[in-house]
Amino acid sequence: MPSKKKKSKQPDFTLIAHRGASYDAPENTFEAFDLALALGFDNFETDVQLTSDGRAVLVHDDTLDRTTDTTGLVAETGIAKIKSLNAGLWFEGPDDGAGVRGTMAYAEAFVPTLDEFLERYAGNAHVHLELKSTQPDLAATSMKSLKQWGWLDQHTGDSVAPGLTISSFHFEQLERSIALMPNIAHGWLLQKIDKASLKAATDLGLSGIYPNASKVTKKQIDDANKAGLVVRTWGIADSKPALRRAYRSGAVGTTVDWPSKARVIIESL
Ligand code: G3P
Ligand code: CA
Repeated sequence: MPSKKKKSKQPDFTLIAHRGASYDAPENTFEAFDLALALGFDNFETDVQLTSDGRAVLVHDDTLDRTTDTTGLVAETGIAKIKSLNAGLWFEGPDDGAGVRGTMAYAEAFVPTLDEFLERYAGNAHVHLELKSTQPDLAATSMKSLKQWGWLDQHTGDSVAPGLTISSFHFEQLERSIALMPNIAHGWLLQKIDKASLKAATDLGLSGIYPNASKVTKKQIDDANKAGLVVRTWGIADSKPALRRAYRSGAVGTTVDWPSKARVIIESL
């Protein structure tokens, strides 16, 4: 009987814990990042933006409404107020999560500053730092913190920990950031790779281009690779087909909220 040949595995597909292990614990908190490490994922992604008094904090939305116990724009709230907020009471956790369940499970969680985050994980993680807002001082403020905590001398453009890769949906933030930190790998988050985006990315000297996982194709990835760009994806949300698509298309990795479940899926392909 002819033996069934299994397709060879893609050797290095990195599962990046998106906002930490955010399926299992409240996103962008130490609890979510610690859990990612405990589950064996030393690559994690986070979102940085500036408070009204110019401090870099880790919050995804432009408002505090969804993930804290107050409302209002991050950019219009001062650091003292943000440091007094709870960032875990909103999170109940799924039935099948790897974290703790119940509304009091993360009662101690708070919004980390970029400095607190970089100090805590220095030497332990590859951080995929997303410049989330369009605030003109965001790249420069982030650079000061990255320099202070020794993150600018680490691995970049790969998944080796400790390391640093910077990303943004905002091209002008990438322009500012790459001018300030030319030795750090930068990637452009976008929906779909096309000719114009490949040209803009290579002209700026980016090392990566990061399309939405549900839209990526093998052809787009081949074209990007030929242009010298690394492709990793985002936007998996709760879609297992999107994860399989990213993996099978030849991306080097993806952000995902549920990296431990994703690992099982990838290993079964
Ligand atoms: O991996 C990048 C991804 O985080 C971009 O989407 O909205 O979750 O920041 P978002
Ligand atoms: Ca993000």
